[in-house]
Amino acid sequence: MEFAVPYIMPVPFEHPRLTKAGVELAIKYLDQAHPSISGNKFFKLKYNLQAARVQGHTRLLSFGGAFSNHIYALAHAAEAYGFEAIGIIRGERSEPLNPTLQVAEQKGMKLHFVSREAYRKKTEEDFIRNLQQDWGDFYLIPEGGSNAFAVKGCAEILSPEDNAYDFALVACGTGGTVAGLINTPNRKSKILGIPVLKGGFIKEAIQPYLLPDVSHYDIIEGYHGGGYAKVSLELLAGIKEMDALGLRLDPVYTAKAFFALLDLAEKGYFPRGSKILFIHTGGLQGRAGFGI
Ligand SMILES: Cc1ncc(COP(=O)(O)O)c(C=O)c1O
Repeated sequence: MEFAVPYIMPVPFEHPRLTKAGVELAIKYLDQAHPSISGNKFFKLKYNLQAARVQGHTRLLSFGGAFSNHIYALAHAAEAYGFEAIGIIRGERSEPLNPTLQVAEQKGMKLHFVSREAYRKKTEEDFIRNLQQDWGDFYLIPEGGSNAFAVKGCAEILSPEDNAYDFALVACGTGGTVAGLINTPNRKSKILGIPVLKGGFIKEAIQPYLLPDVSHYDIIEGYHGGGYAKVSLELLAGIKEMDALGLRLDPVYTAKAFFALLDLAEKGYFPRGSKILFIHTGGLQGRAGFGI
C-alpha cells in the first residue's frame, strides 16, 4: 500500500495584524494531501494503515467523541483502502446522528456507543479484550490516532522547501502531529505547538516520541479558550471574520491556533521580518456541529 506524500505549496496570507507586527505568513493546507482523508489525519494514518495491512488485519478499530475528526477521517480511510472500521464513541447514541457520525456511518463504519465511564477504560487490557470478543480481531488505533506510526507520518508534513520559514505553528490535541513536526529531518524552522486542551500535558506527552537531542521548538499554553471544544461567541465571531478574509478555520483546533498566532505576533513573540508557516490541519467538517 503506497501513500505518496504530495508537496503542499504554502499559500501567502496577509492580515493587517501581522503586517503591523512586521511578519509574513503563509498557510500550508494539509487538506490537500488526500482527496478524502482530511488534514493531518492522512499523515497520522498512513503508516498505521500500512502496518494493519502488513499484519494481515482487515478491520480497524478506534475511539473518539461524537464530533471527532479522527473518527471521521478513519471512516474515510477505511472505505478508501478496503478495511472494515469500528468506531467506539463516547456517550449515548442520539438520533438523528450529528453530521460527523452520519457521514462515518454512511462510509460503512460501525458505531458502538459506550458510557463516559466505560470510555475512560479504553486503554485497559480488559476493556480491549471485551472489544475483541464482541468484534473479532482488529488493528487498534488509539484515540486521536496518536502513536509512533502517526508521529512518523507527521515527520513528513514539512518539506525541505519549508526551511524557508523561521517558524511553523500548529494546533495540538494529543500532540502526535507536533511531535512529528519536531522530528522532521534536517528541519530549520522553529516548531510552535498551541494546545487546545487544558492541562498543560503536551510537553510531557510528546517526550517519548521525540528523537534524541531535538530542540528549537516551543509548546505555548494559554490559548485553549476554556478547554477542548469550548467555543466562545468571540471565537465564533473571529471565525466569521476570517471566513470573510478567505481563510476557513474550525472552532476546535485551527481557529484557536490561528488566533494564538495573531496574539503572539502582536505581543512581539516573532522578530520583525520573520516568516511564519501556519499548518492548517483541516477539521473543517467539525464546523457543522457548531452551526457554522
Ligand atoms: C483539525 C485538527 N487539528 C489538529 C489536531 C491535533 O492533532 P494531535 O492530536 O496530533 O495533536 C487534530 C486532532 O487530531 C485535528 O483534528
